[in-house]
Parts: sequence; C-alpha cells; structure tokens
Amino acid sequence: MSELASLFNPQSVAIIGASATPGKIGNAILQNMIDSGYKGELYPINPKEEEILGYTCYPSVAEIPGEVEMAVLAVPARFVLPVAKECGEKGVKHLIGITAGFRETGKEGAQKEQELLEVCNEYGMRLVGPNCLGIADTHTPMDATFMADFPLKGRIAFISQSGALCASILDWSLDRGIGFSKFISLGNKADLNEADFILDAAADPNSSVIFCYIEDVADGDRFMQVCSEVSRSKPVVVLKSGTSSAGAQAASSHTGALAGSDRAYDTAFRQSGILRAYSMEEFFNYAAAFSYLPIPKGDRVAIVTNSGGPGIICTDSIEANGLTVARFSRETTEALRENLPPEANIYDPVDLIGDADKGRYLFALDRVLADDNVDAVVVMYTPVAVLSPEEVADAVITMRDKYPEKPVAVVLLGGAAVHDAADILEEAEIPCYFTPEPAVRSIAGLVRYSNMMDKAESPVVMDFSDVDRDKVREVFDSVKADNRVVLLGNEASAVAEAYGIPVAPIRLATSREDAANSADELGYPVVMKVASPYIVHKTDIGGVRLNLSSREEVEESFVEIMENVHRYLPDTPVNGVEVQKMMPPGTEIIIGMSQDVQFGPMLMFGLGGIYVNLLQDVAFRLVNGLTVAEVDNMIQETKAFNLLKGYRGDRPKDIKVVKETIARVAQLVWDFREITEMDINPLFAYDEGKGMAALDVKITLS
Ligand code: COA
Repeated sequence: MSELASLFNPQSVAIIGASATPGKIGNAILQNMIDSGYKGELYPINPKEEEILGYTCYPSVAEIPGEVEMAVLAVPARFVLPVAKECGEKGVKHLIGITAGFRETGKEGAQKEQELLEVCNEYGMRLVGPNCLGIADTHTPMDATFMADFPLKGRIAFISQSGALCASILDWSLDRGIGFSKFISLGNKADLNEADFILDAAADPNSSVIFCYIEDVADGDRFMQVCSEVSRSKPVVVLKSGTSSAGAQAASSHTGALAGSDRAYDTAFRQSGILRAYSMEEFFNYAAAFSYLPIPKGDRVAIVTNSGGPGIICTDSIEANGLTVARFSRETTEALRENLPPEANIYDPVDLIGDADKGRYLFALDRVLADDNVDAVVVMYTPVAVLSPEEVADAVITMRDKYPEKPVAVVLLGGAAVHDAADILEEAEIPCYFTPEPAVRSIAGLVRYSNMMDKAESPVVMDFSDVDRDKVREVFDSVKADNRVVLLGNEASAVAEAYGIPVAPIRLATSREDAANSADELGYPVVMKVASPYIVHKTDIGGVRLNLSSREEVEESFVEIMENVHRYLPDTPVNGVEVQKMMPPGTEIIIGMSQDVQFGPMLMFGLGGIYVNLLQDVAFRLVNGLTVAEVDNMIQETKAFNLLKGYRGDRPKDIKVVKETIARVAQLVWDFREITEMDINPLFAYDEGKGMAALDVKITLS
C-alpha cells in the first residue's frame, strides 16, 4: 500500500477555519466534505462558533477529544504556522494547505513556506500545497476541496499544478460523464509533489490511468525514475504548459515556478514513457480514450464509413499519426464483397455508401472487428435521411459489446443532428468525436502507450571501464587554475581522448620550431589554428591554415597566424597555435551536450558541419538513464542516419562507433557535471570498420 494511502482515506479530518458563512472557503470545504458522503469523523475548528452545518465546532485542534488524522488549513496565512504547530502537537499526520500567500508572492512568502515545511518535518507531517484547492477521492469518498462539484466516480487519478485547471477539467468531465478516482491540487508543492502522487496512484487499485497537468517538476531525476517505473503498468498522460517562451514566462509568474526548457521536458517525458498531450483538447480526448477503451495490440486501424471523402481524410490522419491502415484478411474482403453493394469500397476505408442502413453497419463492423489484422476501428457517420445517427450509435454499441477487447471510436460528422447520438455513445462509454483527427489522435495515444509497455528493458549505455578520469580532472584543474572556463582545442581533445572518443591528433605549439616539431611528430599534411579561448571565428581573422605539407610551410604559417591575430585583435590573449593532423573527409556529424536545470545533461546528435543551425537535423536525449535502445532511436530519428547507412550507393559508415561515441560522451558528461556545454563538430564518420575522427571539440565548464 502507498505511503499516502491514509491521506486519501483518513479516519478523521479537522477543517481549521471552517466558517458558518456561506460563500467563504472554510464553509465550502466543510460542506463539500459532508456532501461527498465522507464517513469518518469531521471536526470544524473556529474559535467563534459552537456548531457549523450541524457539526460540533472546536476552538482549536488541541481541544478535539479524539485523534485527528488529517487537517485542512483554511485560515489566513499569518495563522498558518501556529496552527500547523498545534496540529503537529496533536499528532496530525497530513496537512492540506489551502491558504495562499506563500512562495508565489515572493521572498517573504517563500520564507514562510520554508518555515511551514520545517514544522511539518519536525512533527513528521506530510503537506499538500500550500496555495492549493485541496484533494478529493471518489472511492473513499472524501472531498477536501472548495471545488463547485464532486467528480464522478471513475478510474482516472488527476494531479494538477493549477487549481483553475482542476475546476475546468471537473466541469468538462461532468458534462462528458467521465469519472475520476482522485483529484489532487498540488499548489506550491512545498513537500508532496507530482512524483509522490504519481507513485501513490500507481499503487492505488482504484486508479488505472494517471493524468497530470504540470508547469514544472520539483525534482527532474526523481520524476523520471518514478515515471519510468510507473508507466510500465499504468498510462501516465501529462499536459505541460510553457511550450512557447511566452508560455514559460506565464508559468513562472503563476506559481512562482521556474520552468525548465521545453525541449528537455519533451525528451524527459518520452524517455520515461509518458504520453504528452499538447493541448487541453488532446488532454480531454486522451482522458476519454484511456477511461473507456482497451489498449490495442497493434497499430492497424480500420475505418467504416457511409461517405468516401471523410473516409479519406481519416485515412490521411491515420498515416500522419504513424498508424497503419489495416489490410483485411481474404475472408473479410470476400464477405464484404458478397454482402455489400457493388459500389461500396470493401478495402480499408470500408465505404458502406450513402444509402447504408443499420444492418449494413452491423454486418461490416462484425466482419472488420473479427479480423485479426485489425487492432482498432474508427466508425464514421455523415448525416443522411435514410439512417439516423442513433441507429449507428446502437450498431456500434452492439458490436463493441461483442468485441470488447478492441478499441472503437466514433466520428459523427455533424452538429445539432448528432448530439443525441453522441450522448448515447458517451453513456455507453464509447468516445465520440465530431471530426476524424481527434479520434485518430486518441487511438494513436493508446497505441503509443501499448508500444511503450511492450518495450523490452534495454541496458543503460554508460559502462566503459577504460576511461581515464584522472586525466580529465587534471585538465580541468589546470584550466581552472588559469582562471578560464573555456578549454583550448588541445585540452578539450585530451579530455575526449581520455574517454575513448576518437579525435584527430592535436598539439599546442608556442613557437615556430615547436609547431614544426609537432607537425613532424603528427605526420603531414597538417592544419594550424590559432589557440585562444577568446577567438571564436578563427577563419575570419586569418587564424587558420589548411593542408600544410612541410616543416617550412608550418613555420611560415605560424608566423603568419600570429601576425594576423596581432593585426586584427591586438589585445586578445593568445595561447599559441594548434597543430592538428589533417584528416581525410568523412560524413560530418555533430554530438553535443547542454545542461538542463531540471533534468541534467542532455545530448544532441545529428547532421554536423557548418549547417547545423540552418538544417537542425538533430535529436535529443537526456543522459539520465540513457539506454542502448534510446541511442539507436536517437540516431534513427535524424536524416543523418540515411547518410550513415550509405546514401545513394555510398558505403555504409561506422554506425557501431557512432553509437559507442555517443555512449562515451554520455559517460563523460555524467561523470563531470561541471561540463556545462560540449560540442564535437564536425565529427567525421568513416566507412564501416574505419571509425571516426573528431576535428573540433569544444568544452565549457561551469
Ligand atoms: N483557528 C480556527 N479558525 C480561525 C483561526 C484559527 N486560528 N483564525 C481565524 N479563524 C476563522 C475566522 O474567524 C473565520 O471564520 P468566520 O467566517 O466564522 O469569521 C475563518 O477562520 C476564516 O478566516 P477569515 O479571516 O475570514 O479568512 P477568509 O476566509 O477570508 O480567508 C483563506 C482564508 C485561507 C481562504 C485565504 O486566506 C486564502 O488563502 N485564500 C486563497 C485560497 C486559494 O486561492 N488557494 C489556492 C487555490 S488554487
């Protein structure tokens, strides 16, 4: 049983700040507790009253004769701390902090919130909020919120960082007849956060799906670890605000949340098996789909329609969502051919044509649902005089009951004419839509979840024992001793090399002779580049010389480069000139890393060279828990993968070494969190068996 089970099923609840005045929050909460049918002991606390709503009122928790398991705080912020202490003394286990005026109001509020948390820690109390709407459980039943209604009983655990969204989701759900197991308003998350409640819902037998609305996560590592585990047994659907930068600003002013970058969130969700909804509409649609429909076994979708055009739109949507248009078995096709009019389309999408009656829908659905090549069905109806939408709804209900293991969604293409039929379908727990796209996207969500569940455990990539941590430490220490955060090319290459990342050999030369000796050692031809952490565009100032094939050329180039730098950037400190072995050309790729405040290091892989920003052919993965399978997916997501496979007759490249290099970079940035940014670009990939070479490694430390 979850550690928080008693939070949702307390034996006794005190409402501190309960009020006899209708319209006040302390009144609404007590009324909601009563209306929900809560069966435990209920204690209103108010020093001015003897009885509220028929319940004996106490001046403080201390004076309650029995034990109190949970207390709801609905007193003004200045009273919260002393009241919380009193609760601690009384032995209360859980506090629900409704009161606003904490972290979301600024520094002073944050201090008050910290003090509240300290009181809770001192007495071993768990805290929801503060600044929240409360929590409700339909199975207990208990409504410790000030929402306008009590949710219908159902199997969705809903966790929300916004109280307002709780209220709007609730209203929508009552309209659509969708039920919830729990409703949780997170508030400021001073103590309990989304990860705690996701874990609790995972252990709750009454919750089969977990829906969250979040603006940020409290602890990125824990969130990913919890969700990776939970999403294997229960779907976790997340709507996150702040996908645009304007949205991110709104999020931070809302609950004082510091929203991390959306890319990292998106990556974290995917890597931990979370299904992300990108809009409120999609969130609602997923809620209906996951509440009503079974999880399909595969991605093959059949369409049964009475009009051709919408059938084609639906087909396009199936393809656009990465699903497959089902190919029926021979028996199905033959049965459809024999029993449908000759004008009908007997292949997917099955077009029953405009004069279809209920019998035709029944027959086609029966055949299609029985077909092993079909995993899910979208039934479409365009209003016609010869068949009512209610009759179609009836046919669908009959066939859904006959084949309960396959998801069926309905699209009623109409307005007023189809509303009653939509109600009938919702009543029968069949999701109904008015355009094809949301129906298909909902099925796509179920399929994505089904794929995630099927995914075999893949080992984590970071397990190289041949890495030289001491060498990296030594380089970083010397860079820091030099008061720098940006590594020189030869230093960054040495770090990469220490982790087995293949680099083009490079030396730092501080004199003409030194440069020539380095070139002799490396072997010709060589490349020379000015070495200075302050010069980014080296070519622009004449700081680069390519294809040098003799000692003399190297010596001349050294002098030239130094002269150019002194001419164009006279005051810029220069460490010397890097001499690097000139490598044969290869397929240019990039491997990079940046740190995210919430989720730590995030890797980037893609097409390298000078067009990285222009083409943006890149994929991202968080290093935390990165698996071999995810590295494969990351590479395969990019167009660069086609080049690596050998594009238009070109030889396949050394993908094995590409993968290994990504894994080695992952281990490097995981071991040394002080690396804030890293870019290996270009990284030449050679033919299979010939490996790779990093031409330019850039590392910045914190
Ligand atoms: N113990 C018990 N009751 C106390 C008390 C104490 N120490 N101190 C005061 N009270 C009583 C008051 O006398 C009052 O009862 P009354 O109606 O009989 O006079 C009741 O508690 C409430 O106090 P009051 O001063 O009237 O405050 P309020 O009801 O106007 O506001 C809050 C209290 C908590 C609702 C308010 O401070 C608040 O935070 N509102 C925002 C809540 C919110 O939006 N949360 C986030 C949602 S997402």
